[in-house]
Amino acid sequence: MFANISARYDLLNHLLSGSLDKRWRLKVARLLAGVVSSDGIILDVACGTGDLAFALLETTGARVVGTDFCRPMLAVAQRKGSKHDNRVPFVEGDALNLPFPSNSFDGVTIAFGLRNLASFAGGLKELLRVTRPGGGVVVLEFSKPTLPGFRSLFQFYFHRVLPLLGGAVSGSKSAYEYLPNSVARFPDQGELAALMREVGFEKVEYSNLTGGVAAIHFGKKPE
Ligand SMILES: C[S@@+](CC[C@H](N)C(=O)[O-])C[C@H]1O[C@@H](n2cnc3c(N)ncnc32)[C@H](O)[C@@H]1O
Repeated sequence: MFANISARYDLLNHLLSGSLDKRWRLKVARLLAGVVSSDGIILDVACGTGDLAFALLETTGARVVGTDFCRPMLAVAQRKGSKHDNRVPFVEGDALNLPFPSNSFDGVTIAFGLRNLASFAGGLKELLRVTRPGGGVVVLEFSKPTLPGFRSLFQFYFHRVLPLLGGAVSGSKSAYEYLPNSVARFPDQGELAALMREVGFEKVEYSNLTGGVAAIHFGKKPE
């Protein structure tokens, strides 16, 4: 599915979110800048076409590695990498079985990736495994809008308008029907925070983005 939409993925992200996606990724990068020093190393899991990896590189000054299991998405990321002096290596890998040793990264991120995994707890455990003790993990993911009126309006857009627009531009309506359905199956803000604590993260906190359309969750690996 991601291979089919890779060529139009960036365009659709910006179009369907009114470019809010860029602002959300920048927030993640700024959060990581307070956690990882410029001589540290960050892994961006399910990196797709690389936008968060590049934001992390420019904002934190740390080394950044991107990984994803979809080769066509990585090919787009690699092409875009030339604008960033090809400083981000992109590595093919499954988020549920990452091709990196334990305790290797000062910071680990996953943006709009966790929701796609066969096991959310399994994915979180794998992020925790590759993080060094004391390091931080950030999950950026769609969530549940908190205000009832806004929630109904957003649900109408997300379930009715977005599949039509996304389908027309990408040529894959099913991918943009999958998007709201996968978000509906995903834990809300509080449930995701609880799951992170359950698998072993500490100091878990989250903040809502755009009224809870998305949320940023942060957790630390215990020292
Ligand atoms: C919605 S895109 C998000 C891409 C990027 N992080 C962003 O912010 O735009 C989801 C990505 O997750 C990747 N993905 C899904 N399941 C995966 C898995 N098991 N292992 C690695 N990548 C996975 C897909 O290939 C796709 O690139």
